[in-house]
Amino acid sequence: MTGDRTSVPSGRRPLRLAVLGCGSVGSAVVRLLHQQADDLTARVGTPIELVGVAVRRLDLRRDVDVPAHLLTTDAVGLVSSGDIDLVIEVIGGIEPARTLILTALENGASVVTANKALLAEDGSTLFAAAEKAGRDLYYEASVAGAIPILRPLRESLAGDKVRRVLGIVNGTTNFILDRMDTLGAGFTEALEEAQELGYAEADPTADVEGFDAAAKAAILASLAFHTRVTAGDVYREGISEVTASDVASAREMGSVVKLLAICELKEGPDGPAVSARVHPAMISRSHPLASVREAYNAVFVESDAAGQLMFYGPGAGGAPTASAVLGDLVTVARNRRDDVRGVGESAYAKCKALSMGESETRYHVAIDVDDRAGVLAQVALAFADHNVSIQTVRQEGRGDEAKLVVVSHRALDSDLSATVESIRKMEAVHDVSSIMRVEGEPE
Ligand SMILES: NC(=O)c1ccc[n+]([C@@H]2O[C@H](COP(=O)([O-])OP(=O)(O)OC[C@H]3O[C@@H](n4cnc5c(N)ncnc54)[C@H](OP(=O)(O)O)[C@@H]3O)[C@@H](O)[C@H]2O)c1
Repeated sequence: MTGDRTSVPSGRRPLRLAVLGCGSVGSAVVRLLHQQADDLTARVGTPIELVGVAVRRLDLRRDVDVPAHLLTTDAVGLVSSGDIDLVIEVIGGIEPARTLILTALENGASVVTANKALLAEDGSTLFAAAEKAGRDLYYEASVAGAIPILRPLRESLAGDKVRRVLGIVNGTTNFILDRMDTLGAGFTEALEEAQELGYAEADPTADVEGFDAAAKAAILASLAFHTRVTAGDVYREGISEVTASDVASAREMGSVVKLLAICELKEGPDGPAVSARVHPAMISRSHPLASVREAYNAVFVESDAAGQLMFYGPGAGGAPTASAVLGDLVTVARNRRDDVRGVGESAYAKCKALSMGESETRYHVAIDVDDRAGVLAQVALAFADHNVSIQTVRQEGRGDEAKLVVVSHRALDSDLSATVESIRKMEAVHDVSSIMRVEGEPE
């Protein structure tokens, strides 16, 4: 390393950096910049000079020492000063983050951001602005925290054809579902534990209702399939309706319930189309994603030539996320030094986005029925009437009542939900006690 450091050309102008936001991620970024200053200088080939940190409240106690003269509440003034080379945006949300990023690009700075919500809602505006300005826009930290997944999709797999991406991309929901699976806890009890341990926010809606995972699914699908996919294209269902009995049913089948971000490429009569969706699903315990416990994240990628790949690690937290931010910083700084731009948006494929009804999945359905002859045949007929083929049926007698557990083959989601609707109306059916999609099997 010493050799590297001594090879830094003397007299080269420092890279001038502004950081927007100094919360969980921003304070870890500032700390790492300080701790790793020498190595970063050696890796980039020029010192990195932090020239400003924008925050909302100047007097707040922070996890990191930021010299008072660097702190400012004037983020717009900071990014429009015209002498900033690189802006790291870790404020989050849509505004003012979007305006600040656009202003930074217009003023000649490259941008590194961790902002999944903004990229999923309006990434195209940001990419177009970066293209126009001839600057870089990098965002590795926006999906799955520390896990390198966007660069592999964008660069390492650029010569392959990705068919499917399955992600556990929200640590809060994975923690809750893991507790439900291992302790038999109900959703509310597991959520309370997650809140006590700091894995869930006081208002957990964005996590438990799947909004956070849907934004990440949009980013993953866009990169995997070279198509613009926005959060609005992603079907979303959270985990608040998952019951202890769903989790127990999965266990009986040798499966586990996970909240999955699923991105699939489908070849159709009108060309390739993309299905992007987030919902709870059963996956077999033999699938690599089933071993992802507690608040960890993982992304499982299936492609024609590489086959199956899994990327695993901490999906959130200040330091892990800052690791991804600083990785982007080094790349952007090197590009700047070499006067080149990194890879911009690749959206040439322009695949159609499929609705949930047009997507294919499998269902696991548990039905409480009269325990008498002919009921199983009636239920089986409802599946056949809706073009859904059954893979397995299990029946357990319980006196006057029986429980049927049916697992289908892959079928259109609209046909599967129509099947369940018609089963609900049958006289012999007391209750459809659990419906869960089944994912992770080869097509
Ligand atoms: N936390 C994670 O584990 C994680 C993981 C991956 C990605 N991310 C993403 O990283 C980003 C930041 O998340 P975070 O958890 O670090 O958020 P955070 O802890 O809430 O920090 C947000 C920071 O932005 C500042 N801020 C808010 N509004 C501002 C404004 N109008 N002008 C200037 N500064 C403003 C806040 O200032 P004050 O401190 O003065 O209030 C605070 O320092 C988000 O996009 C998030 O989705 C976070």
